[in-house]
Amino acid sequence: MAFWSSSPHLPLLLLGLLSVLLHPPATGIRFVKSNIQLPSDDDLPAFREAPAFRNSDNCALQNHVHIVMTLDVNYIRGTMAAVLSMLQHSTCPDNLSFHFLCLHYQPKIFSTIKSTFPYLKFNVYYFDSTRVQGKISRSIRHALDQPLNYARIYMSEILPQDVKRVIYLDSDIIVVDDITKLYEVDMEDKVVAAPEYCHANFTSYFTDNFWKDPKFSRTFEGRTPCYFNTGVMVVNVEKWRRGRYTYKVERWMRIQKKRRIYQLGSLPPILLALAGDIKAVDHRWNQHGLGGDNYEGKCRSLHPGPISLLHWSGKGKPWLRLDSQRPCTIDHLWAPYDLYRSSRVALEE
Ligand SMILES: *[C@@H]1O[C@H](CO)[C@@H](O)[C@H](O)[C@H]1NC(C)=O
Ligand SMILES: *[C@@H]1O[C@H](CO)[C@@H](O)[C@H](O)[C@H]1NC(C)=O
Repeated sequence: MAFWSSSPHLPLLLLGLLSVLLHPPATGIRFVKSNIQLPSDDDLPAFREAPAFRNSDNCALQNHVHIVMTLDVNYIRGTMAAVLSMLQHSTCPDNLSFHFLCLHYQPKIFSTIKSTFPYLKFNVYYFDSTRVQGKISRSIRHALDQPLNYARIYMSEILPQDVKRVIYLDSDIIVVDDITKLYEVDMEDKVVAAPEYCHANFTSYFTDNFWKDPKFSRTFEGRTPCYFNTGVMVVNVEKWRRGRYTYKVERWMRIQKKRRIYQLGSLPPILLALAGDIKAVDHRWNQHGLGGDNYEGKCRSLHPGPISLLHWSGKGKPWLRLDSQRPCTIDHLWAPYDLYRSSRVALEE
């Protein structure tokens, strides 16, 4: 039980674990398969209304915590679950301010969020995909090539100028700790703070075209680059803007178009611009890879150590695996946050 020891949210995690034990995959949770349809643009899934979460008494001096996520019909179920998990584990949920980036103007997205979270402080912004037109190269996984994946590079242009610091989060995450703790990390003079993985083989994120060309391989001179996952980042957007990081990342995307210096999507150009120059935060803030690898989405188990954020990065997504009645054990930790008004719920009601 060592993983859970330092989590303040033991009961909830235990509940999740308990449901895993009580409901072995494929028998405990049943979905009526034929009723499940992939949502299209005009056919957003329906969600149940989340309970109202209220600030505790000592939030008067609490600043806003700005959280940026993308909104897309295929991932909205993940986004909703992620928002619920953050509200539920915050001491000051009223002070969380959400900024959603989406590709199309869809009034229904706004009303869906409003009806699911009637008390949520949020704004929806339109990300103009022509910004990345002609700059995206094909990666090893089609889903990584969606323009919205690149929106995180443009946050400093999209968000209002009075927003100085944000947490950027992917949609396939669950937070089981107070997100304010991550927001308040001492960033020193850095532009980005994130967990760093210095044991990962950094070389493998770039191709021989990159390492064999001296003008490219000099990129990391004077830095000790380590892998970090760009799905969970604290970003000082003001410093990002002043340091022209959008331009720096775009420059690598243009080089990639001509020279194929990496295989993945939006991650490598951000590593090129920032790896070895970020503020490292505790690994508990990104237990990543729970979706398996980029090819098969195999089941993965938790790494040892305390956990504040679970991240289903990789090909497998918990809502799809649960719907297919072939969930991984770890997916049962996601399920309690699912607000999707599924056929299962309809039957129970
Ligand atoms: C955070 O919420 C408290 C109410 O609990 C409020 O007094 C305070 O002004 C809020 N902070 C901000 C920055 O809005
Ligand atoms: C790291 O990856 C590169 C390229 O994929 C490989 O050639 C090298 O042997 C790996 N190094 C280690 C220490 O595994």
